Amino acid sequence: MTTKNHGARHVAIIMDGNGRWAKKRLLPRVAGHKAGVEAVRNIVRAAGDMGIEAMTLYAFSSENWKRPEDEVNDLMGLMKRFILSDLDEFAANDVKLKVIGNWRALASDVVALIENALERTSGNKRTTLAVALNYGAQDELVRAAQAAAATGEISEAAIAAHLDTADMPPLDLLIRTSGEVRLSNFLLWQSAYAELYFTDILWPDFKPADLQAALDHFARRDRRYGGL
Ligand code: FPP
Repeated sequence: MTTKNHGARHVAIIMDGNGRWAKKRLLPRVAGHKAGVEAVRNIVRAAGDMGIEAMTLYAFSSENWKRPEDEVNDLMGLMKRFILSDLDEFAANDVKLKVIGNWRALASDVVALIENALERTSGNKRTTLAVALNYGAQDELVRAAQAAAATGEISEAAIAAHLDTADMPPLDLLIRTSGEVRLSNFLLWQSAYAELYFTDILWPDFKPADLQAALDHFARRDRRYGGL
């Protein structure tokens, strides 16, 4: 497979459909999330190979706390295991980990794990993997506006400079799997000029070739940023 990023530097994904993937197989929902982690691994590797500089993945939204306690615990457990088990791979593949959202409000063991992983990968350069954890875009915008106001300047540039993604390239492409067509409070500011790509594929079934298909679709779009 020839892979091309077509100039896309930053790709974000709403990884939806783990529950339905499990249900189709008569498996518990956690099996869908586990398969989802495997898809994350494959897609992050592929993104690096494709020369994509940054990936932002919606792993746990500020609204996901409404899920049953067991499922929240399963998701947090998977996240911890993913960070622990994949740290060596991040080092080998030059992946810099970043976490966006209100992650400092998570349980202290998760926070400690994240802090360690951020530190250990901070020198890596090839791909930035930003994981959105306890993330909501409206919350991010309030925090950015507050931080901008504290400097005495509320402007587009000042708010953009205080977003969680401020040090990342502009968002080029936002993908949502599983057939839902909405943004669900994800990267609302950043998606102002991003191309949106919706696919019926359930997240655990999303393969590097599907990422390539989304990028090929992106390449065919004519991005005018409001101009002619
Ligand atoms: C949506 O599927 C998916 C989530 C709420 C969690 C996404 C998490 C992962 C893929 C695993 C951990 C992530 C990382 C970065 C290691 P759903 O449960 O809403 O599916 P459904 O709509 O079919 O029920």
